[in-house]
Amino acid sequence: MSVIDKAIAAITPPESEEARVEARAKAEAAATPGDWLSLILDHHRQIERAFDAVEAAAAPAERIAAQKALGVILTGHAVAEEAAIYPAMAEEHQVGHAELAYQEQSAAKMELGLLERLDPMSQDYLDKLGHIRGAVTHHIYSEEGTWFLQLKQEASADEQSMISQRYKEEFSRYMGSDAV
Ligand SMILES: [Fe+2]
Repeated sequence: MSVIDKAIAAITPPESEEARVEARAKAEAAATPGDWLSLILDHHRQIERAFDAVEAAAAPAERIAAQKALGVILTGHAVAEEAAIYPAMAEEHQVGHAELAYQEQSAAKMELGLLERLDPMSQDYLDKLGHIRGAVTHHIYSEEGTWFLQLKQEASADEQSMISQRYKEEFSRYMGSDAV
């Protein structure tokens, strides 16, 4: 395990699956159809399915294709959050949370790039994939369970609609206009 793997492993989910389910249910209850939070919850579910597909792949070409698809949705989602959501968190008294969010996403991007260099059917690959998934899962839990609920409560209605617009713009700039 590299030093970076250890750093990522160290932040791997301390929370239980039950706590994650509860956090998502709360976030779903706070979201309204078409707003930034509902879009993000949808994209978080897509990310989870993309990880499942990488894990389930039975042959190298299938795994590489699934990993590319995971990279695309993770990057499109991260770019949109970094442009639209984290600055709004910083504006609404969550500077520390916003800084941590950027750091965690940078680490995930770097690790995903390193994953590409490993034999896709090796144990090292599965270990690194597991660490990345753990870190992303914890990041999502922080967003859904705390950071985004707070932003939803504190931002004004005008700010919320601006955030929704920004998130959609940035996501579709990367993913294509049919994506949102
Ligand atoms: Fe997210």
